[in-house]
Amino acid sequence: MADLEQARAWIAAATSLAVLTGAGISAESGIPTFRGAGGLWKNYKPEDLATPEAFAKDPRLVWEWYNWRRELIAKAAPNAAHRALVELEKHKPRFTLITQNVDGLHDRAGSGKILKLHGDIWRMRCTACGANWPDRRAPLPKLPPHCACGGLARPGVVWFGEPLPDGMMKEAEHAAASAQVALVIGTSAVVHPAASLIPYARHAGAKVIEINIEETAASAQVDCALCGPAGELLPLLL
Ligand code: OAD
Repeated sequence: MADLEQARAWIAAATSLAVLTGAGISAESGIPTFRGAGGLWKNYKPEDLATPEAFAKDPRLVWEWYNWRRELIAKAAPNAAHRALVELEKHKPRFTLITQNVDGLHDRAGSGKILKLHGDIWRMRCTACGANWPDRRAPLPKLPPHCACGGLARPGVVWFGEPLPDGMMKEAEHAAASAQVALVIGTSAVVHPAASLIPYARHAGAKVIEINIEETAASAQVDCALCGPAGELLPLLL
């Protein structure tokens, strides 16, 4: 409880905040995480489903997995943790939300600008002409989907081995470096470069607060590690 009070005081005093979220913030919305109990990567191999090589080898298989996730996410709703971040944003002059999630639940909760480091499952990209467009249908009527130009479409997400969207990491680093408080919520902190934002913020002087249901790769490097579900802890912090 002392940790919670300390974290609450840091957040209350801060005028600039950076927030990094991961799959755990959407767990209470019913969306499975990648690692940890019930994590997707226990049943599936990332290299079979989330790499450019996997897509080149079997686009239909990759699309079946994304189509399944789109259906699951379409049925889910933002939870108390997503909503708490919307409130926090309203009260802080400088606030940057950085997410590794592709589910769009921060948008649906009403967050403003979001740096989506790993892209957006609700967008498509043409592998032939490079066109990029939104598509919220779940399920998709025909797999694999195609672009108007006839080219094969791919999910608008970042796969393992691919670079992050142009300039986005620089913007995230800038936010981390100028934050008085950095909140790290529901991430195992093992996927880089996203995870590198945590030591980056701390070295630049931010108080780093982690919220997770278990100890992570980042727990030893933060100022305050709060253990519990984000949907319960975040509203208590604000
Ligand atoms: P992970 O699945 O690796 O980690 C989810 C974290 O959320 C774990 O540390 C859990 O303990 C924690 N967690 C679970 N339920 C929680 C709850 N209710 N409240 C708070 N924490 C909770 O997800 P990420 O760290 O986001 O990338 O994974 C990073 C990237 O790896 C993903 O963006 C994805 C994946 O492969 C790509 O697809 C490129």
